[in-house]
Amino acid sequence: MPESVQAVRGMNDILPPDSAKWGFFERRCRELFERHGYDEIRTPVLEHTKLFTRGIGEATDVVEKQMYTFLDRKERSLSMRPEMTASCVRAYIEHAIGKQEPVTRWYYIGPMFRYEQPQAGRYRQFHQIGVECFGVAEPTVEAEQIAMLVRLYDGLGVPALSVLVNSVGGAEDRPRYRAALLAYLEPRAAELCGDCQRRLSTNPLRVLDCKTDAGSPVLSGAPRVLDHLTEASRARFDAACQSLADLGVAFEIDPRLVRGLDYYTGTVFEIQSAAPALGSQSALVGGGRYDELVEAMGGPATPAVGFALGVERGILALPGSAESFLTAPDLFLAAIGEAARRRALVLAHALRAAGLRIELEHRSVGVRAQLRRADKLHARASLVLGDDELTSGRGKLRDMGSGEEREIALASLASELTRDR
Ligand code: HAM
Repeated sequence: MPESVQAVRGMNDILPPDSAKWGFFERRCRELFERHGYDEIRTPVLEHTKLFTRGIGEATDVVEKQMYTFLDRKERSLSMRPEMTASCVRAYIEHAIGKQEPVTRWYYIGPMFRYEQPQAGRYRQFHQIGVECFGVAEPTVEAEQIAMLVRLYDGLGVPALSVLVNSVGGAEDRPRYRAALLAYLEPRAAELCGDCQRRLSTNPLRVLDCKTDAGSPVLSGAPRVLDHLTEASRARFDAACQSLADLGVAFEIDPRLVRGLDYYTGTVFEIQSAAPALGSQSALVGGGRYDELVEAMGGPATPAVGFALGVERGILALPGSAESFLTAPDLFLAAIGEAARRRALVLAHALRAAGLRIELEHRSVGVRAQLRRADKLHARASLVLGDDELTSGRGKLRDMGSGEEREIALASLASELTRDR
């Protein structure tokens, strides 16, 4: 027997009925984000590697350890996107969007790739839905985005949410904070992991985000960015918090929240859920401001803020069995004999044009087996077509819930089924 091929580790097939739950979740996001003025952007999965090394930062875990990078046939280094913010910034600059409109709001849905240790809620191919808003420096935007997310998860019944916010400061805050952090970390370097000892000279801020050293007393005693912000940065952060309060969003300030990507400036946030299905992967959403990235990538100075949510984690935290998200057929058309099967095919075609979901039996199987399948599919109604029905043009419409039957003209099926919906 030939050996069968399996999916790549950490990359999953999404089969029905799970895909029905996914579809529901995605539709909710699209609908809500569009109501807030976001339009969809789609970008390629592959990008030049330097987009991510420059955009996300050379010394981040994502770029250092997790990228799927390879040379193409012309020896160009390409990477599968580990996230979408860098791609959105590239597209924003490449298409000179800032020249066409003062404010741009984009949302995206798609697969991302990170070579991580797979476990529940953490995969190597995973999906994000995110938004990016370009052109607005006012901190009301981040509050609006966070409130939109809380509305999303509350509306879906996702339990035990917490909203964490912090500020990581911008170019004007960094030198002061960096100096304070180095003064604290350098004498304690021996207590840090090898990667972090190296990061002390490349990017000491990343030490705060290290997975190996997480929870170590060195890190918990480290100086906090919030205590080293300039007055202007602190005022912007306070204004974001005030807007959250105006919107009635319950949040916590978490001075340890630094996020794992280098581009952040100012407000950063995460939304977590303590839903047991998430295990240790409790972060549903991560985001924040990146006011310096567009310019650093060669575009015009443009403030920006956004977030991405993990779809797999959203689905895990979303109550309800996957089956309950399937749409049941409005009608199962059973047929006895060749002539009835041909008529059923044509009738189903017409009923579907009227917007109804119709199942029919193409195979030559007994009527009992057909009705068992109708039951299994949770069809709302069934109708058996045989010689009598073909001659009279009438049939018995059976309500599969109550078992009640009523005789109707086949020609009125569409209106009957639509009315009963
Ligand atoms: P991130 O925090 O790296 O941020 O990812 C955002 C979300 O994606 C996480 O909170 C999590 O739900 C999900 N996620 C990340 N890695 C995995 C994984 N391996 N398996 C399953 N889910 C995962 C970003 O990616 C930023 N681009 C967000 C952003 C947009 N900031 C500004 N704009």
